[in-house]
Amino acid sequence: MENLVAVDRLSENTVFRKGDVFVLFGELFGRGYATGLIDEARRTGMEIIGITVGRRDENNALRPLTPEELSEAESRLGGKIINVPLMAGFDLDSPDGGPTPTDLLAKLTLENWQDEKLDWDYIEKCRQAGTERFVGALSEVMGILDGMISDGKNVFFAHTMAGGIPKAKVFLVIANRVYKGSGKRHMSSQTLLDSDLGKLILQNFDEVSARTFQHLIEGTARIRNRIEGSGGKVRYTAYGYHGTAVLIDGEYRWQTYTNYTQGYAKMLLENIARQAWDKGIKASVYNCPEIRTNSSDVFTGIELPLLPLLLALRKEEGGAWAESQWKACEKLLSDGNTLDDVFAKIRAMQQSPVMGPFYDFSAWPKANSQDQADLTIGTSNEISQMHRDAKALISDHLSTLVVEATGKLIFAESSDPIGPVQWLNHDIVARKLNALHADEASGRKVA
Ligand SMILES: NC(=O)c1ccc[n+]([C@@H]2O[C@H](COP(=O)([O-])OP(=O)(O)OC[C@H]3O[C@@H](n4cnc5c(N)ncnc54)[C@H](O)[C@@H]3O)[C@@H](O)[C@H]2O)c1
Repeated sequence: MENLVAVDRLSENTVFRKGDVFVLFGELFGRGYATGLIDEARRTGMEIIGITVGRRDENNALRPLTPEELSEAESRLGGKIINVPLMAGFDLDSPDGGPTPTDLLAKLTLENWQDEKLDWDYIEKCRQAGTERFVGALSEVMGILDGMISDGKNVFFAHTMAGGIPKAKVFLVIANRVYKGSGKRHMSSQTLLDSDLGKLILQNFDEVSARTFQHLIEGTARIRNRIEGSGGKVRYTAYGYHGTAVLIDGEYRWQTYTNYTQGYAKMLLENIARQAWDKGIKASVYNCPEIRTNSSDVFTGIELPLLPLLLALRKEEGGAWAESQWKACEKLLSDGNTLDDVFAKIRAMQQSPVMGPFYDFSAWPKANSQDQADLTIGTSNEISQMHRDAKALISDHLSTLVVEATGKLIFAESSDPIGPVQWLNHDIVARKLNALHADEASGRKVA
């Protein structure tokens, strides 16, 4: 695991001040990772600027936000949004009004999708059309943004874009079977990747989750040069995922959710940060823990590695505050169930010989298998059923804590980032949360 560089310090922000500019590159959803960073920018008194991915009209044409949508999005963000649609990916793009990849996928059925072939020369033209559209819109956005940032300011660009699942009916069924199917409903993620449908999806993930970071870095060259020339500092961050070290049997050990099909795009994202870093640009990908958000809910069992964060809070000497988190979480379980029962199930899964081959960092992202999917999904369902209310899960509570901690960690690390790719494992997340809440309890100012 020589490539795994973990954040292991609690830094302080020494760069960003009131009046500096924070740009969110992606939309803000209530419980997404970006809320933690935005909270920090707001607390620092930075001016917040956002973008929109736009919306599709009834003919699938991309449009800006309506005045109502814009004002709602701006109040959620707490800042101004540049209303030029920046939807990434090429699933609905085509050259000269021809069929889009989504149109081409419409002919796939559950019977034929594994054998149907795509015309890759044509798909490449669609990809180029999507890129041209995105880069054109980006250049318009950057023209507006340039006029909004004055010399001498420090600027924080936070990339949060991830996605790219095309809206093809057949894929909804396949995704349900790959990510949520056990027993007879299980489908191998490798079967998907071996098909032309799977290859197309991987390309689209690359465009949305990775190349947008490159476009952001390239598209802001003018602003970056001007700001740095006037004495300001410019930072870029992006959220990665590449497994997380969590407490397993008393030790922090790397593990991963399987199958993380987006993993190839996340590795491309890491490489884009490395290439920028080599050119002297401070662009860092922070590989973050598994949490539940609008985007991750598709992956049944992604919440399982999150639960041992409670163990990390104790191990990192969280004192009374950590105990209060244990109590709050235990209350969410129905009568007769304890957190120890929950951890026993997770331990049994993590230590099972079935999972062993999947916790291999160098083989990531491995395809799923029948017994691994059965164990992961089965454990996830069993733990969900131990709760009092299916809408108030321990994983919801812990997700908000992770969003809070990672927001503060990434914001502070960005003053003097140590490299292009870093992991935020459960140890540093727990240490940050414990330090934060110990400070609150003692009435000290929270860093
Ligand atoms: N949830 C997790 O467990 C987890 C773990 C590690 C890293 N991450 C990463 O954190 C980041 C934020 O994700 P999140 O889980 O908080 O969910 P989220 O749903 O809050 O955020 C997803 C983001 O992607 C953008 N997006 C989606 N489709 C897009 C498209 N076609 N074009 C442009 N933008 C698009 C959305 O506007 C939004 O900003 C992502 O990069 C994600 O991969 C998530």
